Amino acid sequence: MFLIEGGFKLGLLWALLVMATVAEAKTQITKKFFGTLGDGTRVEIYTLSNGKIEAAIATYGGIVVSLRVPDRNANMDDVVLGYDSLSQYVSNNPYFGAIVGRYANRIAHGSFVLEGKTYSVSKNDGDNSLHGGTRGFDKVVWKAKTIKDGIELTYVSRDGEEGYPGTVIANARFTLNDNELRVEYSATADKPTVVNLTNHSYFNLTGQGKGTILQHQLKISASRFTPVDSTLIPTGELRSVEGTALDFRTSTRIGQRIDANEDQLHKGKGYDHNWVLDKTQGQLAEAAELYDPGTGRVLQVLTSEPGLQFYSGNFLDGTIVGKQGRVYAWRSGLCLETQHFPDSPNHPNFPSTELKPGKRYHSVTALKFSVRSDLSGQR
Ligand code: GLA
Repeated sequence: MFLIEGGFKLGLLWALLVMATVAEAKTQITKKFFGTLGDGTRVEIYTLSNGKIEAAIATYGGIVVSLRVPDRNANMDDVVLGYDSLSQYVSNNPYFGAIVGRYANRIAHGSFVLEGKTYSVSKNDGDNSLHGGTRGFDKVVWKAKTIKDGIELTYVSRDGEEGYPGTVIANARFTLNDNELRVEYSATADKPTVVNLTNHSYFNLTGQGKGTILQHQLKISASRFTPVDSTLIPTGELRSVEGTALDFRTSTRIGQRIDANEDQLHKGKGYDHNWVLDKTQGQLAEAAELYDPGTGRVLQVLTSEPGLQFYSGNFLDGTIVGKQGRVYAWRSGLCLETQHFPDSPNHPNFPSTELKPGKRYHSVTALKFSVRSDLSGQR
């Protein structure tokens, strides 16, 4: 009798514990006013928090305006670069935190052929188109609704916008799950078009505005990369990383080889390249792992995408004053943009970015945060 009663009590205790854990992991969602655009459109910030991490996302550009995660001593800090006000994002944003599209990364000469027709898209990077053109998905206001553990943003990009064919209905779902922020994109089109979406957060795991990212250690699960010309357009070759400064197959301090005398680094002014991930395309698997020995923070990036652009913040030059008045020095943030390869519409040997009517574009990226308590593995 005692045993049965004891068992029952234990069972009850267990159930309460499970409920408490579930309750703790539940995502709280709050909404606040961020500002108004010149045309009167209101912009909101949705903050998702679950007691472990906290992400704030603006409806303008789907910008992750802050991402707070603990260090090895449980101190929370904001690990993404950005601004305190909407007007700063509108007037001068090097894509801090934004969703980039309709085509993330570059399209050579702003031109491509699709089903026999030539399209010209807006050029905003010399002779090339970058991140969707002059007014890409980073500069539009998305409709938001709350969903389980997060929010869903929707943007309808009309036929001909920035030169791209077809009306595209794009969705980006941001959800928290334990120690991870998951971003899931989907899109449909009413005419054949090209779609490539990513998030352009600049990470600094020491904390935004707290020095450069050169002490961070990075691992990229890729044996090959797509070498570029002087305008950062891929040549079409898939080249082995072996023996180059782009070999991050084992975790390596970023500053160790960033200024190596290698042609590809000169072209990128540091790292600004697309890595060809070793995993099977479509399968959610590790693309990269970033570690800051100082704070112990670890960011693991998992994706269903075939490529990863690692950009080491080479265009930051100390002229931007970001959140809390912090100055963003050269290489003080880095991007890990999960994506299809740059300029894919002009490279039939790259995985296709074409989206046909009746099909659905779908892409998942998970940012998993944790801490490492020791300094082992430091190079
Ligand atoms: C991408 C590009 C870089 C740069 C940044 C924005 O990561 O690859 O060359 O344009 O966006 O500054």
